[in-house]
Amino acid sequence: MEYQLYATCPDELTGLLAEEIASLGGTFVRTAYRVVYFSASQEVFYRVHLYSRLASRICRILKVIPAHSPTIVFDKARRIRFHEVFPPELAIGIEVVAAQDEGPIPNHLIGSKLREAVNDCFQHHLNVLPNQSSRNAVIGITGYFHRKRLMVSIDTSGESLHRRGFRLEGHPAPLKETLAAALLLVCGYDGTTAFFDPMCGSGTIAIEAALMAVNRAPGLGRKKGGFGFEHLLDFDPGLWQAVQGQARRTERPAPAGIFAADIDPQFIQIARKTAAKARLEKVIRFETRDFFLTEKPAERGLLIANIPYGVRMEGQEVDSAFLRKVGDHLKKRFTGWRCGILAPAAAPLKEIGLKPQKQAPFLNGTVPVKFVVFDIY
Ligand SMILES: C[S@@+](CC[C@H](N)C(=O)[O-])C[C@H]1O[C@@H](n2cnc3c(N)ncnc32)[C@H](O)[C@@H]1O
Repeated sequence: MEYQLYATCPDELTGLLAEEIASLGGTFVRTAYRVVYFSASQEVFYRVHLYSRLASRICRILKVIPAHSPTIVFDKARRIRFHEVFPPELAIGIEVVAAQDEGPIPNHLIGSKLREAVNDCFQHHLNVLPNQSSRNAVIGITGYFHRKRLMVSIDTSGESLHRRGFRLEGHPAPLKETLAAALLLVCGYDGTTAFFDPMCGSGTIAIEAALMAVNRAPGLGRKKGGFGFEHLLDFDPGLWQAVQGQARRTERPAPAGIFAADIDPQFIQIARKTAAKARLEKVIRFETRDFFLTEKPAERGLLIANIPYGVRMEGQEVDSAFLRKVGDHLKKRFTGWRCGILAPAAAPLKEIGLKPQKQAPFLNGTVPVKFVVFDIY
């Protein structure tokens, strides 16, 4: 069985996500705006859900149908064999999104035609109505409307994949896990060298680094039934167990130290608890410390700091003096290290006084940010 799939992510990550999917066995991998299309066998399909560090959602394409009018949508969509994809008793959520330049048919009209078509299909084939309550939907049907065509797919991820299952509330500006993983990958981190986040907040980047260091698939933290595909009719529990078992067997002890610090002891407490929930408390060494009093914890390694800034952290502005101080400390104390700094796009990063090896723009939530990477000799 070969599935036609796509994985979503911020547009800046499509290249990295395409590489990740290909390395997991996906074929015919192709990027488009905020999406990576690919094909996969059922085993690779499970592996991508379990191992992807970068995908936000994964969807299985059921069919692409013409959508010149609401009537055509209904007529074509009712022929999709939804009753062979999911059982009628599970609550369905339907979402339609249109490409920006799409024509005049409103999304909600397409959505209601799709809903009627699903009803019609179940009634015709099974003589039952599906559960259209849409509250606590377990089955997510999405329609992507582009160039007078509607791509009808089913969300196989369930909750967004950045939710690894161990996040705790309490820090005002946590990064998304998928962005944290991307920063590590942009720096070429493969889990085998020392890592240090000196402004770790809730610990997101250090925890992603630790997952890579112990070679753990990020999806292993999800509860049974947490992935959308587990509710579909073709779900193969034996194969899924085998894929998970293989992932567990390939874990390893961390080959190098993972270190994390923050000036605020409350954040260190949250980060420690989160690491414990992720079963990584023995892998990461946390410390409450001012960055400007830190020393490199190993001769060589990777440092990533998501520095505090006004929009998200009230009372802590990224000003020139702070950035100059960061640059001076890196130059004095972190020779031999690769250092990545994530800051608002508007921050005067030149003040760091180092020549970046790499620069990458990202969105942190809605805030445009810039990631700059320096090698300190
Ligand atoms: C933007 S937050 C980091 C959020 C983190 N990436 C996460 O995912 O939770 C910046 C952090 O820098 C810390 N910080 C500010 N000044 C510091 C300093 N001089 N030394 C160490 N940490 C500092 C703040 O306490 C805050 O937790």
